[in-house]
Amino acid sequence: MTNRREFLRGTGAAAFATLAPQLSVAAQRKVATRRIPGSDERLAVVGLGNSSVFRQPDSGASKQLLQTFFEHGGGYIDCRGDSAFHVAAVAKTLGRSNNAFLGGYFNGGDPAGSETTAQRLRAIKGTKSLDLMHTVPEDGVPNWDVFRRWKDDGLTRFIGLARHKATYYEAMMKVMSTGTMDFVQVNLSPLETEAEDRILPMAMEHGVAVTTNRPFINGRYFPIVKGRALPAWAVEFDCTSWAQFSIKYILSHPAVVCVLTETSKQKHLLDNLGGGIGRLPDEKTRKKMRDLVKSFS
Ligand SMILES: NC(=O)c1ccc[n+]([C@@H]2O[C@H](COP(=O)([O-])OP(=O)(O)OC[C@H]3O[C@@H](n4cnc5c(N)ncnc54)[C@H](OP(=O)(O)O)[C@@H]3O)[C@@H](O)[C@H]2O)c1
Repeated sequence: MTNRREFLRGTGAAAFATLAPQLSVAAQRKVATRRIPGSDERLAVVGLGNSSVFRQPDSGASKQLLQTFFEHGGGYIDCRGDSAFHVAAVAKTLGRSNNAFLGGYFNGGDPAGSETTAQRLRAIKGTKSLDLMHTVPEDGVPNWDVFRRWKDDGLTRFIGLARHKATYYEAMMKVMSTGTMDFVQVNLSPLETEAEDRILPMAMEHGVAVTTNRPFINGRYFPIVKGRALPAWAVEFDCTSWAQFSIKYILSHPAVVCVLTETSKQKHLLDNLGGGIGRLPDEKTRKKMRDLVKSFS
């Protein structure tokens, strides 16, 4: 009988599997999905942030990144500013408009300008409604009634708030308490855990989908874990890299629907997608993960 090693050698995949186990996992499978509370829609649990290749924009690199992302079941892309037009156009070129779930940013203080932007984005995407119109609670609670109207009018299917610091949580909680918010995006990682106490329990209570930013603290996580071996128990939840360690930590909270990860590199994207595949840690292991990473910093 051919064993696994012989099979890999026969298919020419041995070197690939040895060099990059995390790539081979992601290459074979699609990321898991979770239901958006209050709807029948599902989202892939690993999303893409506003990558520098979208911001520049670099069409060739964006195309490659999005192609890989969609091939592995990816959907949610967080887009700020003109990136949204670029990503929508590339997704259309790839024939993936229906796979792309765009989280765009809009200004409730400028309804007319925002509506023009939304109509333009809708035309590029070629869909009846936008996916998610959200805003940043920069100066306290935003003009939320405008967002509710956009949803009622069918301009968008979902509305929400998104920011990356605990100083914004109060405004987020105020809007959440109205029971009219679909999505909240907050910072969360083994090193930034405050949302677990303040935002996530309330989101679960109100049926709000949680998405997260800063899984790698905007890149600062990697120098902290550099040169350290993953703990042996990471295999218990199918984790093969420090990037996946953070992603799986975040996803093991039941309130989280999608982790937004920012990268400009195929290799990192495949690594990150691997974080949305396989088993997840339990509550006891979560605590161990948090304590371990915090002990490094
Ligand atoms: N609404 C808001 O106020 C707000 C605020 C902050 C962030 N966000 C959203 O959240 C997204 C993610 O958060 P973030 O910007 O803080 O970035 P992040 O995902 O925490 O970190 C990105 C950095 O990590 C590196 N990286 C990614 N995957 C890697 C891997 N597998 N191995 C090694 N390095 C890796 C990237 O470099 P490479 O490009 O070289 O891979 C980049 O330097 C943003 O893109 C944005 O869409 C929203």
